[in-house]
Amino acid sequence: MAAQINPSILSADFARLADEAKAVEGADYLHVDVMDNHFVPNLTLGTPVVESLARATDIPLDCHLMIEDPDRWAPQYVEAGASSVTFHVEAAHAPVRLAREIRAKGARAAMALKPATPIESYEDMLPELDMLLIMTVEPGFGGQAFLDITLPKIRRTRDLIAKHGLQMWLQVDGGVSAETIERCAEAGADVFVAGSAVYGAQDPAEAVRALRAQADR
Ligand code: DX5
Ligand code: ZN
Repeated sequence: MAAQINPSILSADFARLADEAKAVEGADYLHVDVMDNHFVPNLTLGTPVVESLARATDIPLDCHLMIEDPDRWAPQYVEAGASSVTFHVEAAHAPVRLAREIRAKGARAAMALKPATPIESYEDMLPELDMLLIMTVEPGFGGQAFLDITLPKIRRTRDLIAKHGLQMWLQVDGGVSAETIERCAEAGADVFVAGSAVYGAQDPAEAVRALRAQADR
């Protein structure tokens, strides 16, 4: 699969979200970080903003839920217009049931792992998912430094996906930039979230193209 670049609006201007979506035309998905001040020490946005953003852009929305009790809230993000919904396994009470519910509602189901969460415990449930997200920073904030310690897990996950003959996507999120994206791609990631590397650039759309070209190299 050609590399996908998903700009994270966490690094965008929240007062001008429609314009910020236009600024990254050509991106594969728009990555929307939902934080609840409990699962992570930061607070961002909820379903009303997702609904408005879904109306304001043709780019499909990739909602990354960094919240407690995603079992209760994730389905509402599908209803709000998300094309892909990611919950954290550390917060989910019944991850298999939740993944099935997200799919049944018509979105892609994805599960996220924090840097210290092993993939091995979840090998058997990979077929329930359309994407796995390996966090390459501790979730909560944009602009953090990429954690190299996550690279072996990306490799092991890619091997498990191949072993089971799955088509699922492997996403990385956190500190992804021109300096780190090649290492992630080499380790087996194919979907790349980039916040500061895209919205901190002079020309965000050009940054998306450049990152994609680097990952595809
Ligand atoms: C961090 C968020 C990321 C964040 C990435 O918890 O999940 O999506 O926006 O920002 P950068 O690319 O700046 O590390
Ligand atoms: Zn994210």
